[in-house]
Amino acid sequence: MAESMQGLKRTHRCTEVTAEMIGSTVTLMGWVQKRRNLGSLIFVDLRDRSGLMQLYFDEETIGREGFEKAGSLRSEFVIAVTGTVEERGGEFNESLVTGHLEIRVDSLRILAESETPPFPIDADITVKDDLRLKYRYLDLRRPNIQRNLIMRSKVATLTRQFLANEGFLEIETPMLTKSTPEGARDYLVPSRVHPGSFYALPQSPQLFKQLLMVSGYDRYFQLAKCFRDEDLRADRQPEFTQIDMELSFVDVDDVIDVNERLLAYLFKECLDIEVSLPIQRMTWQEAMDRFGSDKPDLRFGMEIQDVSDLVKDCGFGVFTGALEHGGIVRAVCAKGLGDVSSKKMKNIEKSAKDYGAKGLAYIQLKSDGTVKCPFAKFVSEDFLANLTGAVGAEQGDLVVFAADQFKVVCDVLGALRLKFADELGLIDKNEYRFVWITEFPLLEWSEDQGRYTAMHHPFTMPMEEDLAFIDEQPGKVRAKAYDIVLNGTELGGGSVRIHQNDIQEKMFECLGFTKEQAHERFGFLLTAFKYGVPPHAGLAYGLDRLVMLMTKEDSIRDVIAFPKIKDASCLMTNAPDVVDDKQLEELFIQIVEQGE
Ligand code: AMO
Ligand code: AMP
Repeated sequence: MAESMQGLKRTHRCTEVTAEMIGSTVTLMGWVQKRRNLGSLIFVDLRDRSGLMQLYFDEETIGREGFEKAGSLRSEFVIAVTGTVEERGGEFNESLVTGHLEIRVDSLRILAESETPPFPIDADITVKDDLRLKYRYLDLRRPNIQRNLIMRSKVATLTRQFLANEGFLEIETPMLTKSTPEGARDYLVPSRVHPGSFYALPQSPQLFKQLLMVSGYDRYFQLAKCFRDEDLRADRQPEFTQIDMELSFVDVDDVIDVNERLLAYLFKECLDIEVSLPIQRMTWQEAMDRFGSDKPDLRFGMEIQDVSDLVKDCGFGVFTGALEHGGIVRAVCAKGLGDVSSKKMKNIEKSAKDYGAKGLAYIQLKSDGTVKCPFAKFVSEDFLANLTGAVGAEQGDLVVFAADQFKVVCDVLGALRLKFADELGLIDKNEYRFVWITEFPLLEWSEDQGRYTAMHHPFTMPMEEDLAFIDEQPGKVRAKAYDIVLNGTELGGGSVRIHQNDIQEKMFECLGFTKEQAHERFGFLLTAFKYGVPPHAGLAYGLDRLVMLMTKEDSIRDVIAFPKIKDASCLMTNAPDVVDDKQLEELFIQIVEQGE
């Protein structure tokens, strides 16, 4: 029978009890981690969100009835105990904060019993993901997940403090709104009062934060829930949280400055890590050329090297053909991978193809002095020696080549670079390498849509010095956009926004929107801009990604209390789910069976 709390008050969390308190009486409440009976003594590890405390019961102190009750305790029972703090009688447990202490219990209440949980509540066990997520409330009791959520709370609190001190106002923007321009699919919510009409859940507060600048709030921030119906990955969830901000009367450097100081503050306060400022900056072009990625992991080198000039007359059709078609030939030299087996090499080739390569030319300089190179027969020995020398390859190294258009070559070699570093153990997991990526292209050619699309969003300001190309060579125009990247993950991104009518119209024109289409989608913003819009810029971080990296987790799932699985469903609540016919009728919605 569950007892009540009446008359009892918790005095401490488990690990708030310290050696100075020896001899005093405390009341603790929490879950039974483990019970051990040693004849005349019963030991119980009590757990709360702070950690563990050892309790012991002897009949002399607690009486016969109390002792029997203690004997009935099982894992995950919720109990309240009052007792005296003592130095541990037995061996100290150095792995616990409270390992030198124990509580001699003189009164025990069982506040709730528990069935045997489907898995033990322990940081060190491996439990299948599906089971963990079905019983997420139990999984959340595990100390490692608790540590993550505690860190997340700390990051959120410190962010609010920091930004408030910098003059930012926290303002909420609507969840039931119109489609926002972040480029993913929207989650839609049907309207009951406007049959056939739908709200979109925001992909970000982008338009509203720009309107707040028009309204004169000048520095806004929000920890904003965002919704995007896109394919899930380890660093993507359909709903996630942004640290979102917008500032007026600023340019790129001002946004970067306040954000570097925010990051340095968070890393110092949460992890005691000094981020040295200013954070390195790299243009998008340089990042792509050297690392094949706009989110380069700078914890290791192994940079991409251009060999186009070297190979242009080499006689190997794959290389020369690519160059003739306006492509490039680039290489990565993986030190120490020269002896990979044929099977492994096939696997590397397959990865390259997965990233869009048509094939993967390579040179294996094996440690025994032999060379394996599938295209050796097309070229001279001198050429091969020259080429390996030029990329700095020595005996024991592997060189891989991609010959294709710029984007494919970057994707393939960028991905292989990461794969090789992983294989060679080149990544120091304790290092945090930040980099700002700047000067992104404004536009990106979409083969699917046969038109340019905005690389960031349609309100991103072109770089003044590139405006001259916008009609003739729109692909060449760079944007005042920036991303903050940490250890190869895009943490956040933003831009200076267009606040001049003529540039905005030009941008819509480049994107292939007619005036009417632009007004239909973003009319309220464009109208607002007629009434005095200050120059403004902003940025948003993925809070989940930030906390994932700070806690060294591999997935944002481990820093979100109730995450979704790959197919965007929730194993605990079974959402999404069918709804009553009555609800559908009210919304004038009819379900069409698939295949009908
Ligand atoms: P962007 O679309 O780059 O910019 O998003 C900003 C940051 O949000 C995080 N993020 C995600 N995190 C988890 N799951 C997702 N599905 C997901 N999608 C994005 C990333 C990303 O860097 N309004 C602009 C910002 C601005 O211009 O001010 C925006 O939303 O960490
Ligand atoms: P092939 O002549 O097509 O058999 O290709 C010879 C070698 O070049 C093989 O090792 C292919 O994997 C490789 N190769 C083919 N296409 C490319 C490419 N676009 N870039 C780099 N290597 C390639």
